[in-house]
Amino acid sequence: MIDKSKIDEIVSSYKKPAIATICSHSSLQIFHGARQEGIKSIGICLKGKERMYDAFPLAKPDEFIFVNSYSDLPASELVARNAIIVPHGSFVEYMGEKLDDFPVPVLGNRHSLMWERSREKMFDWIYKAGLRTPKVFLDPRQIDRPVIVKFPGAKGGAGYIVVNSYEEYREKVGERKAMVQEFMTGVRAYPHYFYTPLGKKGYPASNGSLELLGVDRRIESNADEIGRALHSGAHVPMGFTVVANEPMVLRESLLPEYLDIGKRVAEAADKLFGGIPGPFCVETIISDKMEVFTFEISARIVAGTNIFGNGSPYSVYTDGNPLSMGRRIAMEINRAAKAKKLDEIVY
Ligand SMILES: Nc1ncnc2c1ncn2[C@@H]1O[C@H](COP(=O)(O)OP(=O)(O)O)[C@@H](O)[C@H]1O
Ligand SMILES: [Mg+2]
Repeated sequence: MIDKSKIDEIVSSYKKPAIATICSHSSLQIFHGARQEGIKSIGICLKGKERMYDAFPLAKPDEFIFVNSYSDLPASELVARNAIIVPHGSFVEYMGEKLDDFPVPVLGNRHSLMWERSREKMFDWIYKAGLRTPKVFLDPRQIDRPVIVKFPGAKGGAGYIVVNSYEEYREKVGERKAMVQEFMTGVRAYPHYFYTPLGKKGYPASNGSLELLGVDRRIESNADEIGRALHSGAHVPMGFTVVANEPMVLRESLLPEYLDIGKRVAEAADKLFGGIPGPFCVETIISDKMEVFTFEISARIVAGTNIFGNGSPYSVYTDGNPLSMGRRIAMEINRAAKAKKLDEIVY
């Protein structure tokens, strides 16, 4: 992985930081937030894809850099434009391991993206945070209930399967390597956090503070509509491809636990790899006993924040202004630049 000192050197040479990201995922929100805070935005784009932004002029980046492939980004051009990359789900996916050595400042800590890449490492992080998780079956012979089988690198949609017994596991999974988790029933909730090491305003966590900006629920195909199929007598396998997000407001009595979950994840990140400045999300399922189970961490902005381009029901209580995650990111970059502390929020 590229040395932190190298990234610090680059960012210290910046006169006026700009925000850059790949034109996908949550880019509308990121560019819109940058514009609201007076920061120049740069869209890294495949030719032809820029036309979408004509429909949304307030969320159109100030400049485009056109590329032939998202896995081959022009680092020196980005640095010449004083770009700080805001990594989102598509960015992380397209860049893969190339991100580790990419010589451009990235908002947050690129170690956290490396930890999120491996499901085993991610679970070490979740365990270190002391969170409740679905039971993980290390030995598939012990499967005694419905389990979800997650293959390495697979994204929920394609590739995950649900089985009910070791026999079914043998038949459908065979010798393939996978993580086997208890299939939890309950209500899924995906809280959006922002951790800042730069201030104490907010929920105390580590040396800084934590904000809960919003919560969404993913609508996954076909899992979330499968009742219709079952009722009609069809027996189709369940799929988990995210197609949309919908807003959620949690029971207020759950908020203390959700704030604690965010704090624990941020503090475990501190101990394991030096912290997680910026946005992250924890993926949870709440049982009917009101127990919260964590099954994933996303160490970056998640697409569920797109619901709250004009602020979430929680953000109005944090800042007084409706705040999107995109705008919160831009505020943080402005604040850090002013205090000459950009090195504390990028790697
Ligand atoms: N242990 C579990 N029990 C029930 N459903 C789960 C469990 N783990 C994941 N899911 C469902 O599968 C989806 C995708 O799983 P996830 O681990 O988030 O993979 P990824 O985000 O990498 O695609 C989740 O959003 C959730 O709906
Ligand atoms: Mg997920």
